[in-house]
Amino acid sequence: MMLRTLSGRFLLRAFALALLTAVVALWLRRRGRHSARLDETPLSNARGPDGSSNKLTKQEKRLARKLEKKQKAQTVHQGVSKRQNRKMDEVTKQLRLITDVSQDVPDADLPRLVRKKFGVCEAYDSLSEDYGPVDAAAACDLLGACVQRPPLYEQKMLPQELSLIHKLFTIVGGRHASSGGGEVAIVDLGAGNGNLGLLCSLVLDCPVVLIDRVQPHAELQAENYAPPAAASRMLRFVSDVGMVDTEALAAFLAVRGIRRVAVVAKHLCGLGSDLALEFVENLSKQKGVEVLGIVVATCCVNKIDSPAQVQRYCEMYSLVDCASFVMTCTRHCTWRTTGGQANSQSKMTDWQVQMSELFEDVIQAPRLERMRKHFPHVDEVLFAPKEHTLQNRCLVGSHSGGSHQSTAGSHDEAFMSVLRDAHKDVIKMCGRAIDLCPKGIASSKYGYDSGGHS
Ligand SMILES: C[S@@+](CC[C@H](N)C(=O)[O-])C[C@H]1O[C@@H](n2cnc3c(N)ncnc32)[C@H](O)[C@@H]1O
Repeated sequence: MMLRTLSGRFLLRAFALALLTAVVALWLRRRGRHSARLDETPLSNARGPDGSSNKLTKQEKRLARKLEKKQKAQTVHQGVSKRQNRKMDEVTKQLRLITDVSQDVPDADLPRLVRKKFGVCEAYDSLSEDYGPVDAAAACDLLGACVQRPPLYEQKMLPQELSLIHKLFTIVGGRHASSGGGEVAIVDLGAGNGNLGLLCSLVLDCPVVLIDRVQPHAELQAENYAPPAAASRMLRFVSDVGMVDTEALAAFLAVRGIRRVAVVAKHLCGLGSDLALEFVENLSKQKGVEVLGIVVATCCVNKIDSPAQVQRYCEMYSLVDCASFVMTCTRHCTWRTTGGQANSQSKMTDWQVQMSELFEDVIQAPRLERMRKHFPHVDEVLFAPKEHTLQNRCLVGSHSGGSHQSTAGSHDEAFMSVLRDAHKDVIKMCGRAIDLCPKGIASSKYGYDSGGHS
């Protein structure tokens, strides 16, 4: 009896031990598998050591497929990812469609044929540089001495402003308050903070009408920093350029004795440049005001991106049949600004950069054609070095002649003398440069912090 009890207990213990060993072994195995999974990348995990994936959960398999797809898309073939290749193929197809050529025509001929179809006279890389007077550095020093601004802002903007003011100077033919013969004004469309407008007013000694659809904060309006005599010549309107009542504007100008205007539109994104051209056409129709010329620095063609905006652009230029290609153009213009010389990290190929230049050529061509209907002298130039802005295309139209191209000699001398006069006037008005550094504002873009902001 006692023997039976002992063997029963032994058997029970042996069974309990075996059970415990089995549980521990199972736990260790599962734990080992789990940590092995954590060590592996999701993709290699998807396959498992033997290449099978049947031990993975549904979620893991989905994740693995997603990663595999992403890796495939990034597979680089001759320096170009598959996704990029696909985009380039799509664009090439569009070039073929719009030029309607047979398959025998080589891809390399397509850009030339596109330019021909859209009446592009000059490709971007053959546009001439017109950065203002020949001695632009000396002119910048003089213009820069009129105002004080955050150094990085000044460094970027001053050469651009100088170049545009030089073009306006050529169009209006000198300083104006004292010249008689009907006072001239500059109309600055998309005027933003009014810095360019103020400089125009100082250099050309004339009133400036600032028009922008946005009213900048008071701390950012140049007229709030200008001395009263200069500020009183800055007239600001909040309106979309496309909505300006030009009849009312002409009447407003007439009351102030202004009979001639030159228009500047710097970097209005998207359709802004087109609306500026429309504005000039409408203002030119008004009695009592003459538009002497327009200077448009175009910008961000990629912002003509919604179907409605593309439609509007196409309607303006009778290009409705080409809307799909216009959309291709506007959507791929950023290849240039994110690629090429702009960004050494960029993965854009030279071909992509060239295509985006072609696409901007296509968008600019109807604008130039439109300007030719109103001005006898029309030109497209590069108005500033790429280091200062990649948006450096500028359309210039005028009645006065093609001398807006930089010319050495008397024209430049006259311009330098005008800059010196402007500087003298500033010193007379405030004893030093006009301080345009925005108060209570910080800008990480321009490494500027005036302090005292909340
Ligand atoms: C990039 S900022 C340039 C500001 C200024 N011209 C300069 O270069 O410093 C563009 C300005 O144009 C204005 N703008 C763009 N499209 C416009 C439109 N259709 N009507 C009025 N203003 C417009 C914007 O509100 C903005 O102030």
